[in-house]
Amino acid sequence: MAVRPIVAYPHPVLLEPTREVTEITDEIRTLVQDMVETMHAEPGVGLAANQVADRRRIMVIDLTAGEEPGQVKVFVNPRVVEATGKQDGEEGCLSFPGIYENVSRPLRVRYAGIDLDGRPIEGEAEGFFARAICHELDHLDGITFLQRMSPLKRRLVLRRIERMRRNGEWPEVAAG
Ligand code: NI
Repeated sequence: MAVRPIVAYPHPVLLEPTREVTEITDEIRTLVQDMVETMHAEPGVGLAANQVADRRRIMVIDLTAGEEPGQVKVFVNPRVVEATGKQDGEEGCLSFPGIYENVSRPLRVRYAGIDLDGRPIEGEAEGFFARAICHELDHLDGITFLQRMSPLKRRLVLRRIERMRRNGEWPEVAAG
């Protein structure tokens, strides 16, 4: 197991859709272990594979951010099959350190995918869990929470990131 470097916006790997996993291999199990360790090291409540520069459709969520054992959820090839309601709340992202903004998300989602044994999973999520699923699924589609902000907020955040990059206060973005 190893903590992997998290790529920061605007690394291109964050802006392109990931690819579906066709076979669960030991290498993918290692990737998932590393993703969980990386998420817990921050700590964060969710991580998408492209945030550690891997272009496969895999995400992990732990709403306790590692505080409680056995709370890690692994999603391979996840998708939302139904979304209802609406919630507003502050959201952050490990690829946007220090940026927290209001983002509207569905209140409830039904999701589907497969687990690390290749078995189908399906379930319902509500509230913060639904928010986390939508945020990470967006990553896997090449969408960051920047695109879910109002145009005004987005401009302000982009300006802030540009300023931080000029001042060397933003993580180095490695070549994609
Ligand atoms: Ni994120």
